[in-house]
Amino acid sequence: NALIGGVRTVLGHLPAAWLPGASPDQLADKRVTLGTQQPRIDGPEKVRGTARFAAEVPMDDLLHAAFVHSTIARGTIAELDVTAAEAAPGVALVMTHHNAPRMKVPPTIGLTNLKAAGNHTLPVMQDAEIRWNGQVMAVILAETREQADHAATLVRMSYDAAPSRTRFEEGKAHARTPDSMLMERNRLEKGNPARKLAEAAVSIDATYNTPWLSQNPIEPHAATIAWQGEKLIVHDATQMINATAGSLAKVFGIKEEDVFVSSPFVGGGFGAKGLWDHQILGAAAAKLAGRPVRVRLSRASMHRLVGGRTQTEQRVALGSDANGKLKALLHHGYATKPLHSICDEGFGLTGRSLYACESFDIVQHYVDLDLLANSFMRGPGEAPGTFAIECAMDELAHALKMDPVELRRRNVATCDPVSGAPHSQSDIMAAYDMGAQRIGWGRRAAEPRTRSDGEWLIGMGCASGTFPFIRMPGTSARITLDSGGHAHVASAAHEMGMGTATVQRQHAADRLGLPLDSVSVTIGDSRLPFASFAGGSSQTASLGAAISAASDKLAAQLLRLAGNDTPLAGLKPGEVRFADGGLRKIDDPARYESFASILKRAGREEVSVIGESTAPLEMLKFSMHSTSAIFCEVRVSEVTGEIRVARLVGAFDCGRILNAQTAASQFKGGMIMGLGMALAEETLLDERSGRIMSTSLAEYHVPVHLDVPDIDVMWTDIPDPRTPMGARGIGEIGTTGVAAAVANAIFNATGIRVRDLPITLDKLN
Ligand code: MOS
Repeated sequence: NALIGGVRTVLGHLPAAWLPGASPDQLADKRVTLGTQQPRIDGPEKVRGTARFAAEVPMDDLLHAAFVHSTIARGTIAELDVTAAEAAPGVALVMTHHNAPRMKVPPTIGLTNLKAAGNHTLPVMQDAEIRWNGQVMAVILAETREQADHAATLVRMSYDAAPSRTRFEEGKAHARTPDSMLMERNRLEKGNPARKLAEAAVSIDATYNTPWLSQNPIEPHAATIAWQGEKLIVHDATQMINATAGSLAKVFGIKEEDVFVSSPFVGGGFGAKGLWDHQILGAAAAKLAGRPVRVRLSRASMHRLVGGRTQTEQRVALGSDANGKLKALLHHGYATKPLHSICDEGFGLTGRSLYACESFDIVQHYVDLDLLANSFMRGPGEAPGTFAIECAMDELAHALKMDPVELRRRNVATCDPVSGAPHSQSDIMAAYDMGAQRIGWGRRAAEPRTRSDGEWLIGMGCASGTFPFIRMPGTSARITLDSGGHAHVASAAHEMGMGTATVQRQHAADRLGLPLDSVSVTIGDSRLPFASFAGGSSQTASLGAAISAASDKLAAQLLRLAGNDTPLAGLKPGEVRFADGGLRKIDDPARYESFASILKRAGREEVSVIGESTAPLEMLKFSMHSTSAIFCEVRVSEVTGEIRVARLVGAFDCGRILNAQTAASQFKGGMIMGLGMALAEETLLDERSGRIMSTSLAEYHVPVHLDVPDIDVMWTDIPDPRTPMGARGIGEIGTTGVAAAVANAIFNATGIRVRDLPITLDKLN
């Protein structure tokens, strides 16, 4: 972290043009197919049911897996009797720590090892230790899934239980404050916050709570796994294809090139479609059984094995002068993070970039409990962080008797308020203005509980969302251009429903000056050129940078092939542009040769190059964030406390929008997740035993269609000059800010401030 700080300081003094990726992209302002509305190219396959997901890949001689989970949080196995399970109909194998092969702990996700996908540091089925309630004790393989499920009920276990720590409140006493992966430092103090807070004309101080949340993609985690000798083949549902392959190679001590991970379609992934125990156990059991294995996590197994967002408790104190100018921002709090867990719920990041405040006091503590490792979940850090900060801003606006939009306008950050780094592009107030107009903000009553329609109290609220721009190094793409003028792009990138191939096809077409139907894209397989994960809202920029680099290489390669007997003779790559199915000198249209002509003269059918996303130095020089303004109108029954969200508007400032259709879906999906966070979702934990009680969609509530109003989304569409294509990430930003906007609207409707998510009707009575 000291190193990052040092690098940041040095980069601050270097011209942007020297930094790879930081100089303006010529495509940022150009519009041919980028920016237009294009349907997803994978759409028809999905609608027809011909898209093949991980659990559907056919294999001969397939066995089906079921898991037996521990029912205590900590201890050792005293007795594990599998004889009845082994004798049950259809059972081919029962695997426990007694017969499981020796396996290494997989390398874990981090910013330095792009081939690591593990989410925790624990051994998988290597000993008799129990480390969380839900850990897998036995794997059953049977001819059918039903037989495996039945046999799983026949395993008899007893334990020597050890004392466990599963209570958040008690864990706070032993909280740690380490530096972490997502936050440079967990403590930030700048500009004498104690004095500024004491001197503030107006201040508020409140504590907000957000619960544990579990991930519920429509496709539960699944893998179809086979060994061919020493080669391991995994059809997985993952947002980390190459990282999963690299990690499994380490686990089994085999060569990286002998692990194949294929994942062309993923039925939703929000951060947790990475490497968990089920792929490792499935591969181990397949090895023991000598037959292919399908692991299809039940919803319950998913809740017990795959981490989500952790519980947080956040205190926010804000102080301002009488005009609402922020003097001090204090953000202190706790998030659960088991010691064996990789991801931290870095809510303390939120308040560092949003407002031009004079002083900061930010501390985040981690509570170590004997629980399932937590994971990344759409907007990790910022989703709970914006709930606290943006509710607090609403409380301050109320105390100031000031319009909440006006309060934000008076505190808009013109550079990074902590580091002083310039923004690459930022205009959150443009988003506020668009959103306010769309929802009709003028109809909002300044005084709470003054608008109603029969028994329904009506209120409006708003909140900011934020998520950093991230571009990953190492992501690469191959462009193969043939003599027919067709370009094919290939990369081991991921499709979780957001339109990866669709958008990069538009990008490659514009970059290469080709019509859309002359470009095809293949993704989703570890044998393709390396790609980092689809996470941190980074994939579009990372893959975009790779395609941009590949197209530069392609121009150079074509000029070499063209030789001297061409109108292009003597030109350097920087002097030509792709246009009209060939290369053309910039500012001299007569100097042109088509791809077909160049390749024919060189005696080549095709030309192929690989480009790679460079080190993302722009992230260190500039302050880069996607931001949003979320608006909500709610109706709350005065009789029952029932909350209906009547309208939801999201206005986004995320650089240039690359595809109006896929972007609208991303934003709306993210906002629906925020709506779930606001009103419905909560992983219920029995704190005595560490056992999750809500392991199906009957107990873990997500918004259903009737809960979701028409959602309006819009964007400023201002190109970011420091990013590929002018775009910043849009995957996670939609979820941030929504819970606060809903809570603030509920306060405006009812006069009741609920600081604990989810806001269920009992909390309004
Ligand atoms: Mo996202 S939490 O990085 O899929």
